[in-house]
Amino acid sequence: MAGLTLTNVVKRFGALQVVHGANLEIADGEFVVFVGPSGCGKSTLLRMIAGLEDVSGGEIAIDGTVVNDVEPAERRIAMVFQSYALYPHMTVRRNLSFGLQMNGNPKEDTERRIAHAADILQINELMDRRPAQLSGGQRQRVAIGRAIVREPQVFLFDEPLSNLDAELRVQMRVEISKLHKQLGTTMIYVTHDQTEAMTLADKIVVLRAGRIEQVGAPLDLYDDPANQFVAGFVGSPKMNFLKGRVEAVGGGSITVSLIADPSVRLTMPVNSMPAEGTPVTLGIRPEHFTDAGAGNADLKVAVDVAEHLGHTSYIYASVADEALIIERPETRHSGHRQDFTVGLPARRCFLFDADGQRLR
Ligand SMILES: Nc1ncnc2c1ncn2[C@@H]1O[C@H](COP(=O)(O)OP(=O)(O)O)[C@@H](O)[C@H]1O
Ligand SMILES: [Mg+2]
Repeated sequence: MAGLTLTNVVKRFGALQVVHGANLEIADGEFVVFVGPSGCGKSTLLRMIAGLEDVSGGEIAIDGTVVNDVEPAERRIAMVFQSYALYPHMTVRRNLSFGLQMNGNPKEDTERRIAHAADILQINELMDRRPAQLSGGQRQRVAIGRAIVREPQVFLFDEPLSNLDAELRVQMRVEISKLHKQLGTTMIYVTHDQTEAMTLADKIVVLRAGRIEQVGAPLDLYDDPANQFVAGFVGSPKMNFLKGRVEAVGGGSITVSLIADPSVRLTMPVNSMPAEGTPVTLGIRPEHFTDAGAGNADLKVAVDVAEHLGHTSYIYASVADEALIIERPETRHSGHRQDFTVGLPARRCFLFDADGQRLR
């Protein structure tokens, strides 16, 4: 087992720079999730850690030793890919043993490792089948098994569940979480799915366009996002953003009105004081609206669609030309394009400046 340190890590493909100086500490045994939109550099970072891509600048250290020039096979890292990458003509048992045999691992030890992995993943009945005779979930289990038998000090997962259907994805997610508890090995997991990130991670690393935007525990990112990008990325359904304007400032507080309905005004304390008239964005999560009259201001919306899930309802609505999602428990709101009024609690509202930086 091992911790990892990234220091000013840069990646260039020719003239194109895609990772712009990443700094990150990963503790021994930690489950870290890299999350961000497609193309933000998640796989590239992972592949540099694995040694499958050269590092253009900076250092990657495993357990305090810089590994920039260490061969992938010598890093004691195992990687699991979205595409499984199993050998199609080999049985499951051969898929598990092949790499170890190639490295000259003693036969008895190889068998011990395979039996251990098969037990953990409950694939004992599948050992004589070939990949074509397995379901997607079973194939991914074998791919994970192939990582386990290597007894790596770090596991890397690159979107391993993306090819599975929704139900299986949830099931495998729980299994990967259990696997981490059982093995206690450092794991780095890449996904573009914020739910996977929230449910699996000890620590989430949010990436955007080759830069780390924020690092933190899942609920810390949810409660205290560093900026509008993180606020919009963490949480499902995502945070609502409404255009606003600073009406008045003073005494550590500001009063903001909504562009879509200037009669809606909220006064709240801020960390940094914008000038009067400044455009701002008000953020509020779908689950934080209150009943009408129970917040600090009421907001009248036009209902586009209401989804009733039993335990909760999602109301897709709009104010002027701005769309929003409101989650209300047990709302039996029927009909179409009706007015609906909700409360805005100031203490639940975020404020961002024109650059997406937090004002509160
Ligand atoms: N071999 C490569 N050559 C040139 N550009 C690449 C190569 N691999 C990735 N990129 C670019 O690097 C950026 C990050 O890619 P990637 O790490 O695959 O993103 P993610 O995994 O977050 O979707 C993208 O703009 C992608 O087009
Ligand atoms: Mg990728």
